[in-house]
This record gives sequence, structure tokens and C-alpha cells, in this order.
Amino acid sequence: MSETSPATMPPANTAASRKVFIKTYGCQMNVYDSQRMGDALASGGYVATDAIEDADLVLLNTCHIREKAAEKIYSELGRIRRMKADRAEAGKDLTVAVAGCVAQAEGEEIIARAPVVDLVIGPQTYHRLPEALSRVAKGERVVETDYAVEDKFEHLPQASARQVRSRGVTAFLTVQEGCDKFCTFCVVPYTRGAEVSRPFAQIVAEAKSLAEAGVREVTLLGQNVNAWTGEDAAGRAVGLGGLLFALAEIPGLTRLRYTTSHPRDMDDELIAAHRDLGGLMPYLHLPVQSGSDKILKAMNRRHTAADYVALIERIRAARPDIALSGDFIVGFPGETDADFEDTMRLVETVGYASAFSFKYSARPGTPGAEMGGHVEESVKTERLARLQALLRDQQMAFAKGLVGETLSVLVEKPGRHPGQLVGRSPYLQPVVMPESVGEIGDVVEIEIADAVANSLIGRGTPATQSFGMVA
Ligand code: 5AD
Ligand code: SF4
Repeated sequence: MSETSPATMPPANTAASRKVFIKTYGCQMNVYDSQRMGDALASGGYVATDAIEDADLVLLNTCHIREKAAEKIYSELGRIRRMKADRAEAGKDLTVAVAGCVAQAEGEEIIARAPVVDLVIGPQTYHRLPEALSRVAKGERVVETDYAVEDKFEHLPQASARQVRSRGVTAFLTVQEGCDKFCTFCVVPYTRGAEVSRPFAQIVAEAKSLAEAGVREVTLLGQNVNAWTGEDAAGRAVGLGGLLFALAEIPGLTRLRYTTSHPRDMDDELIAAHRDLGGLMPYLHLPVQSGSDKILKAMNRRHTAADYVALIERIRAARPDIALSGDFIVGFPGETDADFEDTMRLVETVGYASAFSFKYSARPGTPGAEMGGHVEESVKTERLARLQALLRDQQMAFAKGLVGETLSVLVEKPGRHPGQLVGRSPYLQPVVMPESVGEIGDVVEIEIADAVANSLIGRGTPATQSFGMVA
């Protein structure tokens, strides 16, 4: 595998020693895309900076999932406008690019509303970033939001081994993009387009190069990751389960995860992977959104609450210690008190180790936004508070239940305090440990001495003020 692919970039001297500041909003897919864009820019001579004041190019990789997320971008652009004006006074230039789902959804509107923006580029066209920047350099304002016929995965350069190593022992790997499910609340099918699976051989090659660069844990990403399909090396049609069985064979890759899944696509092969693969971590993010059949139908989720519970039972039969996580929306149009109580009941029945919950936010262009029966803000607030209290209790109970157990933890980085290391439990919880446990990249066995807010404390961790008395 070549370390870099400069072929897709303009000659390095056009951008020599220019600095890029990338700010990422939203999901892990955006985190991955930002890294890939950063790699492409690095191959073209840009140097990454963490300080926006030093940047020649500011790239905002945006999220459109809820209204608040989208509005944040415009306030950030307001700050950048003032920065650019100060620069101009000093005779210096600043290029501003907006990428991600706001770019895709709002395209020309961003150019009109925010004159500071030079380039708007959607997720389907990131491989055209270098060329788009050359056009900006010639004074054009560019909008690149067409759905590309080319495969963006083919065109973005692989990260070099050095770049991967500097990111650490865990990595994301996109295997699937887009969504054909059309849940009525969701913008993703519009911003990320139709479901596309990345070819098996490409995924395996990237996973191998990550492992060779020192990555120990890979999280497969997709908006609908378990809808991934492909052909394995023998030409056999496989789903995500089959892909996981193949990735589990790669030397050095000790842990696998994937996110985010739809209940309709949890097939037998994937459940078998949870049963048979020790390296597939016992953690599953499986959003259900609501516990009311009426609301699930209005959301176009295409399953009932009972289907979901039955599925969870099958998964737990295959992997009894699996930790479940979910996403919930309260206040979808038409949600009554009784519907909301159904959601609370479903949460009680399933028992979550972690979860994300949101107030419904009407998104322009989605069917939900056109539905009657919008729920009062105050009712949404009250329901969200009740749901979050229950989910928080479940998360704490799950964590406390691990105290006294010995868990295998992948050591990821130094802790916040001297003498500490931090890693992840199989269930994705941060674990704080004494530095004597091992090196970064090791999977160590450690007894859990305590569970605090969002992390577990390994036995022997030096006591700190924030953790109080730790054994
Ligand atoms: N309003 C509120 N929450 C939403 N989500 C997606 N769209 C909306 C919306 N319009 C939530 C869902 C999804 C998660 C990523 O964001 O719970 O699973
Ligand atoms: Fe959005 Fe539904 Fe697709 Fe998930 S499955 S990305 S919620 S449309």
C-alpha cells in the first residue's frame, strides 16, 4: 500500500506550508470524513493546525440532523467573518469552506446567506476538494453538491502510516454510506444519498493497513452500517456479519465495532458474528426511536415495539453480556402521553447501558415536518427530562454492576492526571487505570474498583480530587 496518493492533489507548491483548521460537527462519519479530507490536503502540502487564528483555510464539516446543529454553523460563520475582516485589514487572506450535511442540504443558500464562504462542498464530492480549492484560488466562489457518479472512496488518498500512527490505536473505517430507509423525521437520505456499500476488498485492504500502522480497534461506520452488502474474496454474497468474520482474521486487529444499525437489518449472520467472534465487542447501538407502534408507523420505521424486543432477545441469547445503546426521539408529531409511556415501558423492558435522546426537530423537506399534531415545546421538554432520568439511571446501574469484575481494556492514551492511563471497556466505557497496567495499544485485564459519572475506575488508580477515594 502506498503511503500517500498525491495524484488527486494540485502540485504541492501551490499550497506549500499553508495551514488548515478543520472543525467537525455531528456524527462519527463526519469525524472520518474530516480525517480523509485532512489527509488529502496534507498530500497537497497543507499542514493541520489546532489554532483557527493561524489558519489559511478554515473547513467546517457540518451536521444537519437537528435544527440546533445546523444553526450553529451560521453563528460560527459570523465569528469567522469578523476574523476574515481583520485579516483583510492586515493584507492577509483566509479561505472558508463549508462541507458536510448543511453544505449538501443548503448549498447555494449558504453562499447567499454567508458571503464569507468561498466553497460549499457536499459529502458525495469530497474527492473534488483539491480541484475546487484551485478554483477558489482563482477567485471563484464554488458550490460542489452534485451527487457524484464516481466513487468518493476510490478517490480520496489512503492515510499514510505516519498519519494513522499519530491518531492512535483506534480508528474509524467507513464501509457504507447513505440511507434508503426514509424515516419520516430524518434528513440523512437527502443529505447523504442512497445506500452505497464500499467493496469488500477495499475495506479489507484499509483495515490491514490500519492494523499495520498500529491500530488495534476499528469501528466500521455507516449511516446504516448493517445494510452493508458485498462479495467476499471467494465471490460469495455476504452481509456485515460476513465482513466482520473476515476482518477478525487480520493480525493485530484485536477489536471490532460497528455503528449505526437499523433493527430491520440485524440478520442471522450478524447475530452469529456476535456469538462467535471474541474480537467483536459486546456493544450494540440499535436505535428504536419510540416504543409506540403508532409513532413507529408514522416514523416509517417498519417494525413494531414487539419486533424490536424480540430481536433484542435473540441477540442476547447469542451474546448474553451485550451492552445495548439506543437513540430516542420524544415529541414526534402526534405523540400522546400514552405513546410516550410506551417508550418509557420499552426502555424499562430492554434496559440500556447507554443512550442518546432528543426532542423532535422538524427538518425542512422531510415528511415529518408536514405532519399535523406538533407537540408543544414544554411537553417535549418534560418528556425528555423523564426519559433521560430513566436512561441515566440505567446507565449508572449498568456501570455499577461492573464493579468488582475484571474487564479487558484497550489502553488508548494517557489520563488527565499524572500516573494514569485511559482505555475503553468492551462496553465502550472509558476506564481510568494506573500507568503500571501496560502500554498504549495493549489489551489489559483490570478489576473495576468504582463507577463514576461517565467512566469506570480500575483498581490501583492513583486517587485524584475529581475521583475522590479510589481503591
Ligand atoms: N429530530 C430529532 N432527532 C432526530 N434524529 C434524527 N433526526 C431527528 C430529528 N429530526 C436523531 C435520531 C437518530 C439520531 C442520529 O438523531 O434519534 O437516530
Ligand atoms: Fe435516518 Fe432512518 Fe436512515 Fe437512520 S435509518 S439514517 S434515522 S432515515
